Formats: sequence, C-alpha cells, structure tokens
Amino acid sequence: MKNINKSSFVFRQLFDRDTGTFTYLMFDSVTKEGLIIDPVKEQFDRNLQFIEELGVELKYVIDTHVHADHVTSAGMLRQATGAKSALGENAKVECADILLKDGDELEFGRFGLRAISTPGHTDACTSFYTEGRLFTGDSLMIRGCGRTDFQQGDPEKLFESITQKLFIFPDETMVYPGHDYLGRTASCIKEEKAFNPRIGGEQTLEKFVQIMNNLDLPDPKRIDEAVTMNLKCGYSLPLGHVNEDNFTMHDLHQLLDKLKPTERVIDVRTPEEYNQGHVPGSLNIPMGNENEFIEEIRSYDKVFLHCHSGLRAQTVFTMLSMQGLGNIVCINSSGMADWKIASFPVEQ
Ligand SMILES: [Fe+2]
Repeated sequence: MKNINKSSFVFRQLFDRDTGTFTYLMFDSVTKEGLIIDPVKEQFDRNLQFIEELGVELKYVIDTHVHADHVTSAGMLRQATGAKSALGENAKVECADILLKDGDELEFGRFGLRAISTPGHTDACTSFYTEGRLFTGDSLMIRGCGRTDFQQGDPEKLFESITQKLFIFPDETMVYPGHDYLGRTASCIKEEKAFNPRIGGEQTLEKFVQIMNNLDLPDPKRIDEAVTMNLKCGYSLPLGHVNEDNFTMHDLHQLLDKLKPTERVIDVRTPEEYNQGHVPGSLNIPMGNENEFIEEIRSYDKVFLHCHSGLRAQTVFTMLSMQGLGNIVCINSSGMADWKIASFPVEQ
C-alpha cells in the first residue's frame, strides 16, 4: 500500500441533463494529474473549463463503453488537453490510445484507477474502481442496470458481471453509474444488493434474464449518430483550436536570447513549481488564472506557453484559442522537466 494523503483526492460529479449522463472528473490535488470518465460532447466547454480552472493535468479521458445515447467528447478533449483516450479492449475503437484489459490500472498522481471488465450491456463495458468508488457505466445503475437488447447485449453476461465482478466489493463501496433519469446521483453496493429490483435480493439468473428480455424499450433517439461517431472517438475540434506547432523546450532555448520585448515566455505551472526554478524572464500565469491576464497576453506579438510536461500548456492553449487568441506557440511535447534535464539556465 502506498502511503497516500487521501485528502488530496478530488472528485467531481457532472451531469448532462438532456441525456441523463454522469461525467466524473477526478485528480490528485498535489500532482494535479487527473482523468475524466464519460464526457459528453455537448458539455465539452463546461468540462474543459472545470479542468482548466482546477488546474488539472488531464492524463486520461475514458469511456465506459461505446455509448448509444450520446456522443463522447473523448476525441475533442484529447486534442484540447493532450490526454490519452481509453476504453475496454472489446470496443473495437481503433482511434483509442489505450485499449484496457480487465485489471489494468491507470495512474493519476498518487492514485490508480482499476479497469474491471463488466460485459453484458455491451461487449466492451468496463467499470472502474478507485478510492472506495465504483464507476459502473451502464452495467449497474441505481436500482437498475443497462439494457441488453442491442449492441451485443447479453443478459447472462450482465448477470455474471454484476454478481461476480461488482457485488463482490465491500458493502460500503460507493456506486456511481453512467446515467440516472430520476435525480439519483449515487448508491452503494449494499443498497444495490438489497434493493435493485432487477438483480438485488439474491435474484436468480433465470428471473433476471426473463426481466431483461421483456423490457420492451424504444431505441435511444440518437443511436445511429452516437454509435457511428463514438466508434470514431466522437467529433474533432475546429482547426485553429488544435496545437500543431511541434515546438519544444530546446527550440525555446535557442530563441531565448533573441526574444523581443513584445515576445514573452509564459509558465502556466503553479507558483510553487515556478518558484523552484523557471525559464529566465518567464512570466508565471498559473493555469486557471489566464482570464485575468487575457488582455496582457493578447497584447504580445507572440507568447510561448509551457508547463512541466506539456499537458497543462496544451489545455491553456485551447482555452485561449477558443477566445480568439492567435499569438500563442504552445510547447506541448515537453516542458520544464526537459529544460532541467538539458541543464539550461534556471532562474529562481
Ligand atoms: Fe449505454
């Protein structure tokens, strides 16, 4: 067991009212590394603003499965932040950066998110566990479960997934589903084992299959668009909001002596990180604070944005580009870490 200061685990539950979809953002407040589960396309701006204001260095954008009811913003968030996209290996989503197997763990700061393969609603359905919380997607829902009548749905598999992979967690484990349509936000294993009308109360496989095969639900309204787009990681960001500079800290080092007064290096790390050593002459505008300085940033002919490894710089770049700034060179493939390794001059 790692010795972790639990108070540094930050967790936010977000909601898309139109589709009843929950999105989960979590990060380590010390290292700032984080991830997001099931982001909805229509909420891209809101989610990015959260990520940005909270200073999250987004490492992973995860989908619990190939959704049929909404389009993911995994592709857009990946472009916006430099995060890697991930989902279950059976999803056959070729554009994903990471295909997760049962038991795989994604690290964010001092925490780990464990993938638990829970097929049944779809083949690729994956639940996730971290810090006493299960994110169950459409496998287990509050007093319900995902339907099994399309997209490789299989009630027998879903029964096995819920009873053998999820109900084995301790009673107090919190359950955060992919959806709710009745205003409920979370449950726990004990409550679902007791009160879930489909699979709780020691339900038998036979009765569960009978219930699932007789739900007689209409298809989701947007199933064709949603599935087609989700197999492609969703939509892409508009050009101009995508960083294509390929500019590195080594390039910056070469330019440093030649910078004009109207050109500025901006370090978007925290003040603590900045105070431990920064590029000589650079200005510290911590991620999440750039709106206060937007007119100053706009007034330069050119600004060079960097952070520690590139993820925060790319996120700030996207935010500023969305507000119409076009004078930014974003260093997103490296950062202060590489600068220090190269023994370039550091100011304190
Ligand atoms: Fe679903």
